[in-house]
Amino acid sequence: MSEFRRIGGRIGAEITGVDPNALPLDEVNDALLEHKALVFRGAGLDDEGQLRFAERFGELTRAHPTVPSVEGRPDILPVNGEEGIRSNVWHTDVTFVRTPPKLSTLRALVVPPYGGNTLIANSAAAYRDLPDPLREFADRLWAVHTNDYDYVLPRTNTDKAVEYRQTFTSRRYQTAHPVVRVHPESGERGLFIGGFAQKIVGLSNSESRDILRILQSYVTRPENILRVQWTPGDLVLFDNRITQHYAPDDYGDQPRTLHRVTVAGDAPAGVTGETSYIIEGDDATHYTPAQAA
Ligand SMILES: [Fe+2]
Repeated sequence: MSEFRRIGGRIGAEITGVDPNALPLDEVNDALLEHKALVFRGAGLDDEGQLRFAERFGELTRAHPTVPSVEGRPDILPVNGEEGIRSNVWHTDVTFVRTPPKLSTLRALVVPPYGGNTLIANSAAAYRDLPDPLREFADRLWAVHTNDYDYVLPRTNTDKAVEYRQTFTSRRYQTAHPVVRVHPESGERGLFIGGFAQKIVGLSNSESRDILRILQSYVTRPENILRVQWTPGDLVLFDNRITQHYAPDDYGDQPRTLHRVTVAGDAPAGVTGETSYIIEGDDATHYTPAQAA
């Protein structure tokens, strides 16, 4: 009997005051497959505990393909708004590489008194919402994901922001992923697009933008979204194979620090079973374990 309490009609469940590492792995994984995002209120983990929790699901990735980790913690990415860019674009983590992480964990260290929430969307519900002709169309599409586009444009022209963009794009990646990904564990289909998806294979830039905008509008419907209001000590686990997320830039200059640890994933497969392929860049083995092609 799961102790997770549903907190959204289509996505999200939470559990309070429990050590995530003390819960049976099967129970957590089953809840994750069902709810897509799990909030562990008052999890009380430190860096070690977060790493240990993530490792229960498989081998970890390093912090990021191009962005430096927390000092002395190669597997932990610092998430804070101080770098001059904020993740206020809907995206799925690191989809510009061929094998994006399967799971992401976020842990709140410092949160502003208001704002600074994280929004997480269920992309399987979005897929189910598509009208039949659009769903069949999407099933056949592939999208090119890249790290070199305006997601990383600095909000300001501060030296730090410009430097961050240079770091983010210091290695350039382009990968083709199926627009409809079949979840490797549940078999569920979901729209696998988000901010790094910049082009549809075989279409022009302007056609691509229009098609992606239409599909993306189904992902970001309010019905499909969980809004997480952070308290320090909270841990969130979400399924990066079948969600997108967004961090509203609504907290001014107040500090906000989260730590992210991600679990390595496989190459996404579309409805025909074909898997993602690299267009530009390497297979990022400095970031994520090598996988058979
Ligand atoms: Fe993210």
